[in-house]
Amino acid sequence: MAGNNAISEGLSVLVGILERERIRGAESVAISSEALAALQGLPQALFERRFGAGDPAMAVTSAVPASPASPASPAVATVIEPRSEAAREEKRDETWRRAQLNAIFKSVKNAPEPKALGTLFETVVFASGNPSADILLVGEAPGAEEEKLRKPFVGPSGQKLEQILKAMGLSREQVYISNIVKFRPKKGDGRFQGAGNRPPTQEEMASCLPFIRAEIEVVEPRVIVALGRTAAEGLLEQGGALGAFRSGTHRFGGIPVVVTYHPSYLLRQEAASIEEGKLAKRQVWEDMLRVMEIAALPISEKQRNYFR
Ligand code: URA
Repeated sequence: MAGNNAISEGLSVLVGILERERIRGAESVAISSEALAALQGLPQALFERRFGAGDPAMAVTSAVPASPASPASPAVATVIEPRSEAAREEKRDETWRRAQLNAIFKSVKNAPEPKALGTLFETVVFASGNPSADILLVGEAPGAEEEKLRKPFVGPSGQKLEQILKAMGLSREQVYISNIVKFRPKKGDGRFQGAGNRPPTQEEMASCLPFIRAEIEVVEPRVIVALGRTAAEGLLEQGGALGAFRSGTHRFGGIPVVVTYHPSYLLRQEAASIEEGKLAKRQVWEDMLRVMEIAALPISEKQRNYFR
């Protein structure tokens, strides 16, 4: 978008000037209050340019509820009360992020591209967890159980994912969990689908990519974890084997991406044999140690040596 390009170019020039000042030994720069206010307003301005979000003073929460949303009301609107300057400063990030995520959630509901495909069910399954998380995990698409509860990763894969997080010393509320595709994919016309699921196609993932991109821009995690080959292909917009994805280095919008096995693969390997299960677990754990390192999480000796 032309306006966004002008803003990015302006920001690049500003970063260049600041970088030169830093090299010259400057530890601080003087900035007028007008310029500071304009810079602080940039994320909101950029977001609105892109999504046309409503009145920021009437910020709403929460597209990412901590507990399962009621199917009748996936997003609960709350008027943000005016706060003192100090309290507002403290809360700004969290409140701003919730408002932006809620705006993205609304744009998913009305998005024409995924609907036009005719291959996805209509219920939106958005995201859950911490809008300011350091770790953002992304799967491929919701299944039947996720659709029922309108929350990603709540079926058997979700339980496995929670076990992995627990081993990392985290709960699902501390990370941000989302999917590339926000609707359950249909098998045929979906009429006789029952609880069956299928992975999303490239076309379906492409139709939803702007949403996960926007979520990542808002959450600004330190690291993104792509769960499985399909999610990696959709996010990185390239094909490949999981082994190649795992050993490669990837970035999305400048943020490191670690690709690991989907939790359903772990479940399948564990069901196949003890040995296969153990191998898959060890591989996932190696990836998660990398995630913890990038996220600057403390790693205990016990965690480091789980599989040694
Ligand atoms: N698999 C996914 O990729 N996402 C979910 O939400 C559930 C299962």
